[in-house]
Amino acid sequence: MTEADAAFHADSLLAQMSQEEKLGQLIMVRPAFAPASQTVIADEQRAAIRAGQIGSMLDIWGADATRDAQEVAVKESRLGIPLLFAYDVLHGYETIFPAPLGEAAAFDPELWEKTARAAAVEAAAGGIALTFAPMLDVARDPRWGRIVESFGEDPWIGSRFAEAKVRGFQSADLSAADAVAATAKHLGAYGAVTAGREYASVDVSERSLREVHLPAFRAAVEAGAAAIMPAFTDLNGVPMTGNAAVLQGIVRERWGFDGVMISDFSAVSELMSHGVAGDLAEAAALALKAGVDIDMASDAYPKGLLAALERGLIAQADIDACVRRVLMLKARLGLFDDPFRRGSTPLAPAQRQAHRELSREAARASIVLLQDRDGLLPLAPATPRHLAVIGPFADAPLDMLGPWRAFGDESATVSFLAGLQAALPGWRISHARGSGAETVEPRARNDAIDLAEEADITLLCIGEAANMCGEASSRTNPGIPDCQRQFADAIFGIGKPVIVALTSGRPLIAPWVFERAGTVLATWFLGSEAGSALADILTGCHAPTGKLPVSWPANTGQIPIFYAQGATGRPANPAERLTSQYLDAAVEPLFPFGHGLGYTRFAYANLRVSPETAHPGDTITAEIDITNTGAVAGEETAFLFIRDPVASIARPVLELKATVKIRLAPGATGTARFTLSTSDLAFINDAWVPYLEPGAFEVFAGPCADRASLLKASITLRSA
Ligand code: NOJ
Repeated sequence: MTEADAAFHADSLLAQMSQEEKLGQLIMVRPAFAPASQTVIADEQRAAIRAGQIGSMLDIWGADATRDAQEVAVKESRLGIPLLFAYDVLHGYETIFPAPLGEAAAFDPELWEKTARAAAVEAAAGGIALTFAPMLDVARDPRWGRIVESFGEDPWIGSRFAEAKVRGFQSADLSAADAVAATAKHLGAYGAVTAGREYASVDVSERSLREVHLPAFRAAVEAGAAAIMPAFTDLNGVPMTGNAAVLQGIVRERWGFDGVMISDFSAVSELMSHGVAGDLAEAAALALKAGVDIDMASDAYPKGLLAALERGLIAQADIDACVRRVLMLKARLGLFDDPFRRGSTPLAPAQRQAHRELSREAARASIVLLQDRDGLLPLAPATPRHLAVIGPFADAPLDMLGPWRAFGDESATVSFLAGLQAALPGWRISHARGSGAETVEPRARNDAIDLAEEADITLLCIGEAANMCGEASSRTNPGIPDCQRQFADAIFGIGKPVIVALTSGRPLIAPWVFERAGTVLATWFLGSEAGSALADILTGCHAPTGKLPVSWPANTGQIPIFYAQGATGRPANPAERLTSQYLDAAVEPLFPFGHGLGYTRFAYANLRVSPETAHPGDTITAEIDITNTGAVAGEETAFLFIRDPVASIARPVLELKATVKIRLAPGATGTARFTLSTSDLAFINDAWVPYLEPGAFEVFAGPCADRASLLKASITLRSA
């Protein structure tokens, strides 16, 4: 259906709809199944669908259940308007890919797109037409559990991630049987909740809203995202679910977003708890006027919207506009052409297999080698040895799937232990859990210590469990629980080689691990093929290439910590007391944004830019020579940052503008080429529009955001 046909269809339906049917399109509910069934909709809900009182459903899965509900909507309701089925497909549906924070470490938009594509194919085969993803909240506070769902701290990466995910989920044709609508969530600045506490108030400046928190959403809109979900939180006193200034003023009017806005779960009625609505009618009116089309699972639209209309808080035209947008989305998804298009063809075994391989590739690319002081890696598979694989996450398939595991099947997930057993057939691989994630397990502890004493090498798998991060999982001490620390200390005390695999959804604040262990890998939540991927890296079949998408704090007091800090009049200088620093700790993170080791080393030299004097509209090329100075081939991700040292508004000390990957044989030198446009040098001015200010700019390139590792060049921008 073309856009014009879709509009015609939506308008002609709208003209025939009763008020009840209109409201129905704005209501999203969870399925109610018949007793003892997961696929047959209960009679009462069947009646509601038949009456047109429900327009969409969340948390319904499987081709049988979606077909059952859809048949009622299409065949038994007066106008036959199909239902929209939505689900949280964040990083996979059945095949689970690495959790977003881990996948961000790959710094690879093509990969991000491919995994979203695969997730969409599987979700659509299960009848799903819309995913509540990608999650695009900049996260700079590891206390906040939802950092795991994000791409990390950097808005430029966020924009690339947003585009890739939207393209992947939606494909070039949203109406295709294997496409799902993307929902950019949770607009906006949710990651800046006070003190990292879930659902807490958000107070950020207009500048950081526009420069840090909104760009990824704008990129998603420009990539064609079909839907947006406002955050649960307020923004400077105005709850996002009723925030007309942002939702209407910026997103719809300025960015031209004409898709659907879906509230978060019960967020419309929560406008009352926020203290901006006195009853359901006021809550409904606030959300609807702000442009929220669909009320997810609250009583506000079902019970408050008509009252709001009667009281004159909203007009009929406001309701009609929302209904029209919902119908347009359904038309764009092809639901009117064939409501059973999704969920009709089961996934072919070959495709499932291809997704498993992709999951393994993505998991490998997500692993970050944080430290390898003693050069323990890679292992030498040809020389069989005794490897003890111990710790709460050594054989924990469910945890590998992370906090949003959709239909990821624990029994089809490769644990670290299973992956290593498969990869090292000649080796003796022994296992004991040693400790629970949050509980002491005395017998298992002794068994694990015995094994580590006997073994040549120990792989110590510690960190946080999947249920210790994600939604409603803020932690004031985002480290590794004491029971694991005591267990780990006992293992380090043995004095034999230990490799630590850190399972987590955030940078864990546990400096003791890095003091005591020579070799540490961040393994996040790697998904269905976690163990195979870790084995690929440990055995040297593949070298680690992941880099940190987030600064790794040295201690909790440094939070929030991120590389793109604002400039200060008194930059940190340990020799000068009256400078911006701490008395009791360094200001630098333990590992900077972009940090990540491989099995070789790279040297950077000779950064040059061309032209050195640019005019608005010019393309600027920056090149840097990179030499593989080690003994094996390797892949490096290089970063390009800029700084505007003298501007009418003080700019951050560094801003990421490009990344490039380069593969080099041992001893080889290659050139990483970054392409910028002069608009990359612009910043947002007082009128909140991009402004290109003539003058000198500094360009930095290198392996990470640590200033000491970066080379510098300059560009002068002249006015036209
Ligand atoms: C609440 C979460 O905040 C949101 O991310 C999710 O999409 C909805 N629940 C639906 O599950």
